[in-house]
Amino acid sequence: MSSRVEGASAASMSAGGVGQASPLVEVSEAVVSYRIKGKGRFIAVHGVDLEVRPGEIVGIVGESGCGKSSLARALVGINKLSGGSIKFLGEEVTPLPIRRRPAHLVPLQMVFQDPYASLNPRRRIERQLEEVWNAAARARGDAGGGDARRTAITDVLERVGVDPELRSRYPHALSGGQRQRIAIAKALLAEPRVIVADEPISALDASSQKRVAELLRRLVDELQIGMVIISHDLAVVATIADRTAVMRAGLFVEQGPTERVWTAPEHSYTRQLLGAVPALVGRDA
Ligand SMILES: Nc1ncnc2c1ncn2[C@@H]1O[C@H](COP(=O)(O)OP(=O)(O)OP(=O)(O)O)[C@@H](O)[C@H]1O
Ligand SMILES: [Mg+2]
Repeated sequence: MSSRVEGASAASMSAGGVGQASPLVEVSEAVVSYRIKGKGRFIAVHGVDLEVRPGEIVGIVGESGCGKSSLARALVGINKLSGGSIKFLGEEVTPLPIRRRPAHLVPLQMVFQDPYASLNPRRRIERQLEEVWNAAARARGDAGGGDARRTAITDVLERVGVDPELRSRYPHALSGGQRQRIAIAKALLAEPRVIVADEPISALDASSQKRVAELLRRLVDELQIGMVIISHDLAVVATIADRTAVMRAGLFVEQGPTERVWTAPEHSYTRQLLGAVPALVGRDA
């Protein structure tokens, strides 16, 4: 928390009134390490603090290998923590395979850079979406199925801008942008409170990147979910994130309202990152 700048809540308030709500995700002193054969443990995340509130996008930027994905996987309970804690809706996030999530973690969803990591290439889109809907229905304690499920799938595909007719296809028969939109639809069907998106647009071409980034911003605003977006692309984070954390070698060197981080960076590493970006677009709040 020490790196949080003064005025953070005022700035995030102005970016959509998110300053007052209690956090959906609370990360405290999180440490992620890996065992390296014959060399002990490598610490990829060195104790970071982070909060995500409803209606808020938190962007995480930093160079390759600085620990962004390690943190993202810990956030959703794929990576085990070696220290600290991660709480989702007040409950500790327990590391379990993503396909065997306990009911309380169903509303905590992840979207990966490569949609094939979110989608099974051997199953039709519709089957995959039905499975998620079923899991969310079970988490709600609702037997469900049939018409309600079909309608929910039509609605979510429309929401993410994919023709609902494409539901009968296999993932390979879609464009990269469509696949990523379907990965987002899949996360949405779980009725998420928080989505962690690790490089969700990096694999897309420039025009798709812009449209999918706009879609993510709109979903957060409309559904008042929380979102963590990891991106190499500083311009994207500057455009859509309310707050930005700058990560280097497993640590957040600074974190604060996006506009402040971009216009008045406190850390030399942030200035260095910004110096590498030709022109940053201001966020349309
Ligand atoms: N399973 C693993 N076992 C050992 N080391 C790992 C493992 N996964 C990641 N690492 C190491 O941890 C560090 C952080 O990796 P991580 O994938 O979190 O980086 P990143 O910031 O997401 O990078 P990129 O931007 O390239 O995706 C790297 O040095 C990486 O080699
Ligand atoms: Mg990564």
